[in-house]
Amino acid sequence: MSVFGIRKRLRAALGMGRPARQITTYTLTYVLPDGSERVIEAEEKYSVLMASQSLSAPIGTGRRAGGTCPDGGCAECRVEVLDGTGLSLMTDSEKRSMEAAVRGEPHEGRARRPVPASTPRSRLACYAKVVGSGARIQVAELFDYDSLRGDPVGS
Ligand code: FES
Repeated sequence: MSVFGIRKRLRAALGMGRPARQITTYTLTYVLPDGSERVIEAEEKYSVLMASQSLSAPIGTGRRAGGTCPDGGCAECRVEVLDGTGLSLMTDSEKRSMEAAVRGEPHEGRARRPVPASTPRSRLACYAKVVGSGARIQVAELFDYDSLRGDPVGS
């Protein structure tokens, strides 16, 4: 904890300074690849991808170490939204990212194969933010922790 963190806690304990920020959470449901469902509480404005850290494994993004890509352009975090209640609206950049993946445009200087066309329910989990309760998200793939072991042959 930094010096600032200690000072903040002391001020809060003494009733001085700003009151602690109220954390708002919302309920969302993930329908996992095996068909099971998990209901979780996610902090307001968390992305669907970030909130999936509460699952046994987060949503797979195709990245070796998991997590979001730096530019929001990989579109590997695609999910199907069964109920969009409580999710932010799709942004233009999310739409562009998904369309580029469908066309198979290169990403990060690497070629990629076109992915199946998106549906009206498709969203990118790193763009969709939790702003209320009630969303139901169909997850196609969870992150594979075995992928962290690397290639045993050493390539
Ligand atoms: S993780 Fe790359 S677009 Fe979502």
